[in-house]
Amino acid sequence: MTREIKVELAERSYTVVVGVDLLGEAGRIAAASAGKPDRAVIITDSLVGPLYAVAVAAGLSATGCRCETIDFPAGEEHKNLTTYGSVMDRLLSLKPPIDRRCLIVALGGGVVGDLAGFIAATALRGLDFVNVPTTLLADVDAAVGGKTGLNASAGKNLIGAFHQPKAVIMDAAVLKTLPPAQLDNGLAECVKHGVIRDWSLLDFIEENAAKFVAADVGALAELIGRNVAIKAAVVSDDEREAGDRAHLNFGHTIGHAIETAAGYGAVSHGQAVALGMIAAFHIAADRSLIDSTTADRVRQILVGLSLPVRFADLPDLPAAARDPARLREIMAHDKKNIDGIVRFILPTAPGSVATFDDVTDDHIAAAIAALGS
Ligand code: GLY
Repeated sequence: MTREIKVELAERSYTVVVGVDLLGEAGRIAAASAGKPDRAVIITDSLVGPLYAVAVAAGLSATGCRCETIDFPAGEEHKNLTTYGSVMDRLLSLKPPIDRRCLIVALGGGVVGDLAGFIAATALRGLDFVNVPTTLLADVDAAVGGKTGLNASAGKNLIGAFHQPKAVIMDAAVLKTLPPAQLDNGLAECVKHGVIRDWSLLDFIEENAAKFVAADVGALAELIGRNVAIKAAVVSDDEREAGDRAHLNFGHTIGHAIETAAGYGAVSHGQAVALGMIAAFHIAADRSLIDSTTADRVRQILVGLSLPVRFADLPDLPAAARDPARLREIMAHDKKNIDGIVRFILPTAPGSVATFDDVTDDHIAAAIAALGS
């Protein structure tokens, strides 16, 4: 069954379509959402393009749209200015030249969505784009909300723009080809959504964990729909992260520091966020914001998903990623800080969080120490 979820943003509102075996429909839905363009360019990567670009291109061509594909090497290490320059040059060299009516279709995981979205935001001062994410992480997080961008030498996602898509099309069937580690990345973000907005989502995740791992596409489509509904509501309330959109960073303050300290590829985003969520629960418990039953429930769900809850669960984690001084130093450079103050999202009740800018170094050190115990 197909589910449609609206992201309400006045004149920038759009629909997220979630279903199974939707890829053949993606071209038609994309074209309809963008006012039937006569030109479209699919931007994808070297892993996803060979699997799915032909199906999406066929759907676009069937609407009478001229369609070309540009791909770039897969991987987070390519989400940078060099790849951006090369993709932009190829886009602007197409013959006949594209004009402002050209639709960009992002086909791939979060890296593709971020980079292609930023190309769309900046080419000819802004082109329409439609996102067709192909990983669980991109489905439940990056593909909804209009954050586009690139990594800079100084840090992740420091170059970018808000540019909302015209539509997002999510086909759970493509997750069958996803490596298990990629599924973990998405599942950690789903647990995050349960903690910040919908405690009952944790029951659903626990009851269906085996189905997700077995790539049961019906269960995955339901999981995606529930999570997109949460993210859509958060983004509709606070598009530019002036307030509660920051709640989506729950687990990411210490989690991101662990990921950065570990170095590229040493720990997955989902594993780092899982540890970051446990650390945030430690801080919340230290400050008497929540009781231990609430924290234990989240720990139990993460363990059930084979996500780490202690450093010992990741025997290959580099020592730097466990070093409180190194992690604190990285947190000092978090782009979400204001006036140098590290901001934490902490749980305050099941399904509810709040932003705190008075978390002390002692609390941070104790939370990191607890991950090592
Ligand atoms: N990934 C966090 C956000 O979209 O705001």
